Amino acid sequence: MRRAVCPGSFDPIHNGHLDIIERASKLYDVVHVAVLVNRNKQGMFTIDERIGLIEEVTADFGNVVVESHQGLLVDFCRERGIPAIVKGLRAVSDFDYELQMAHMNNGLTAVETLFLPTSPTYSFLSSTLVKEVASYGGDVSHLLPEAVHSRLVERIAERKAAQ
Ligand code: PNS
Repeated sequence: MRRAVCPGSFDPIHNGHLDIIERASKLYDVVHVAVLVNRNKQGMFTIDERIGLIEEVTADFGNVVVESHQGLLVDFCRERGIPAIVKGLRAVSDFDYELQMAHMNNGLTAVETLFLPTSPTYSFLSSTLVKEVASYGGDVSHLLPEAVHSRLVERIAERKAAQ
């Protein structure tokens, strides 16, 4: 079984993430999507909500397993015998930090990192920007799977009502 991991915060998953996961799922027998827990960051969605949304929108790919992980990505890989990390590169500006992490991870456990160029349609996309635009009422429906978009709109409305 050839396995790879697509790691990230996925708060929430957007079309750029989905494009990378789908392409990875065609290259590998099993793709693990690792939702990394960052204890210092309060997200828009809980880890379980993120996992549920990713499971829903990747169900059709047929070979995607979604899990959370607290700690180092290399430990997630080691525990599951995953030799490769697949990441999307949006622009040259991503490259410096991604290269640093790839070298660090490879130095820790010899895990390889493979970069896929993000589709030009989504090269500007980030979860942070999507949340910001949506919170001011901007239309981000073309940037997210429908199920994710409706949950995001609901969550923003809930938060506004609670203020
Ligand atoms: O979606 P993000 O927030 O850009 O993803 C970054 C992520 C979660 C993939 C990265 O921060 C990560 O791998 N975190 C896990 C902790 C870890 O292994 N840190 C050392 C990286 S060399």
